[in-house]
Amino acid sequence: MSLLDRIKFEEISIEKIESWQGVICVVMSQQMPLTALFQKINRLMKGRLKQITESTDFDQLLNGESLSIVFPAGLKSYEIKIFKIKNKNDVNYTRLVGASIANSLSQRDILIFDLSKTQTLQLLYGFFLKAYKFDKYKTKTEETRIEVNFAGTNSSTLQKKFKSFHALLKGVYFCRDLINEPANILTTTNFTQKLKALVEYGLAVEVLEENDIENLGMRALLAVGKGSECPSKVVIIRWNGNKTTDSPLLLVGKGVVFDSGGISLKPAGGMEEMVMDMGGAGVVAGTMKTIALRKAPTNVVGLIGIVENMPDGKAVRPGDVLRTMKGDTVEVINTDAEGRLVLSDLLWYGQTQLSPKAIIDLATLTGAIIIALGKHKAGIFSNNDLLCEKFLEAAASEQEGAWRLPLGHNYKKQLKSRVADIANVGGRAGGASTAAQFLENFVEESMPWIHIDIAGVAFSKNASPLSAQGATGWGVATLNRFIQDYFEKNKTQ
Ligand code: BES
Ligand code: MN
Ligand code: ZN
Repeated sequence: MSLLDRIKFEEISIEKIESWQGVICVVMSQQMPLTALFQKINRLMKGRLKQITESTDFDQLLNGESLSIVFPAGLKSYEIKIFKIKNKNDVNYTRLVGASIANSLSQRDILIFDLSKTQTLQLLYGFFLKAYKFDKYKTKTEETRIEVNFAGTNSSTLQKKFKSFHALLKGVYFCRDLINEPANILTTTNFTQKLKALVEYGLAVEVLEENDIENLGMRALLAVGKGSECPSKVVIIRWNGNKTTDSPLLLVGKGVVFDSGGISLKPAGGMEEMVMDMGGAGVVAGTMKTIALRKAPTNVVGLIGIVENMPDGKAVRPGDVLRTMKGDTVEVINTDAEGRLVLSDLLWYGQTQLSPKAIIDLATLTGAIIIALGKHKAGIFSNNDLLCEKFLEAAASEQEGAWRLPLGHNYKKQLKSRVADIANVGGRAGGASTAAQFLENFVEESMPWIHIDIAGVAFSKNASPLSAQGATGWGVATLNRFIQDYFEKNKTQ
């Protein structure tokens, strides 16, 4: 059971503060009136707390930084940490304070002190984003056994309000777990099983096996998995939260459980990171879980292509020509540009079989997006300005980096093939845009569509402010907000 499921919304009364033994976290902002609770602790500490918050040392702290006292005199507490937040309505820094509490996590219980409900919720969100660990294969770790408690905040309303954050965090954790899982465990079959288990939350899950995929004519997708021992799969996850309208938002995810590059083999250095090449599928799965948990009043379908890209005698070759489900032929110049082959058939399947009102695809598609935007922002491509603008707004309000990049006929020209309708690569220049342009070839002009290249943001070698090393979960929060804001109030389309 993860820490997230063990949180206790227990209220600690003023009288009990004196004998509380865990870590007390105080968050101070300039606008904050000194509450009865603050005065009480200050009295017990013989004025030390006020002395700290009025000191120049405290004054000089940067936003989100803290001072702390271990074994404070007058209290039984192990430690009291005093964080500074310049503006108490600053969501970003409140989350970072939560993350910083999680970062210094010991086996001691935590007491969150005297915050407004909204602030507490944001702090907890940051706390749990950062507290996530993927340590199931570490045989020598101890399970964290702590409780998070509250003082000065009504705990039962807090618990109720935390429900939507809980649903979101569950989706983020699910996404991260999938992405972090190594490819010898998360095989195509195992991934499919994990998705099937989502029926528990009221989602309908359908699996297409290789013969079904073949019969549908999704040969580009199948070609990618030819060199693998593991069978290719297509999984359709349906959330039908709005019984009155039937046209859903469609989320499409690239689910390459391991990308060796195939016959166009990748260099050894860093190849181990290619276990995250199912990141797009992970985000789709996480988002579907979240919207099901919060019973979103809307219809969303997740469409995931699960394959493994391996070199083998049966593998697809450079120079091979494939016929896609759409009917267009593709010349495979490089077997390492496999994600777009998978997505081309998924996009066509989605449009012809699922009648969506809009499509968002997510994929760890190109190294070029990392050259363009670094690891800070995902690349956004779209044929619909309004939809795209709304998506960028959602990303901004969730503090997930996103930046729009261009599509255009000049990029399409780079994809000309000698033998087929289109080539699967377009040279080094503008590599993220030519990849997106390849996908656009499989999207009807009238279909509102966003492509998100998450190759740079899905996974991080180093820990970041709101996540541990490995999968970040980028996208689940943004998609969840986007769905909530624009597809549950009938604002768009
Ligand atoms: N999965 C990779 C893209 C990737 C790179 C994801 C780095 C995460 C981190 C994708 O399948 C790929 O190999 N793309 C090639 C395309 C090229 C052959 C046109 C690339 O970016 O090098
Ligand atoms: Mn590749
Ligand atoms: Zn790939």
